[in-house]
Amino acid sequence: MSQTRRKFINTLLGIGSLGSLGAIFYPVLSYLVPPKIAEAKVKSLKIGTVENFSPDSSKIVKFGRKPAIIVRTEDGEFRALEATCTNLDCIVQYKKDTKQIFCACHNGIYDLHGRNISGPPPRPLGEFQVNIINDEIVITQPG
Ligand code: FES
Repeated sequence: MSQTRRKFINTLLGIGSLGSLGAIFYPVLSYLVPPKIAEAKVKSLKIGTVENFSPDSSKIVKFGRKPAIIVRTEDGEFRALEATCTNLDCIVQYKKDTKQIFCACHNGIYDLHGRNISGPPPRPLGEFQVNIINDEIVITQPG
């Protein structure tokens, strides 16, 4: 009879231990395994009004999960490019003195249409469409 009681108590303790392990590992696994629902893909983004950008300046904005660089040229035109260098993924910047996009990691240089013109970058930067609607600047992923 006491053997049966001992088995019963051991079974209860085993179930309790499994529950505790589940309570510990379930949140960890939930964190590590990505959700099956894909994130909504960003197609276009309002980045501010024309007055937010002075001529010959730039700004990095977040387009979905990736950075984009917005450049307002000296003559007031807007350019929007992917800001991740095509060499090894550093973030590029606008150089006022040369009017080019520069990657400081390995001296990669792009023109203001994103074409790779010097250094190690193997491909151009993707270029966004820029539309100004009621003084609001909207950048859109092409395609
Ligand atoms: S990461 Fe940009 S040039 Fe190497």
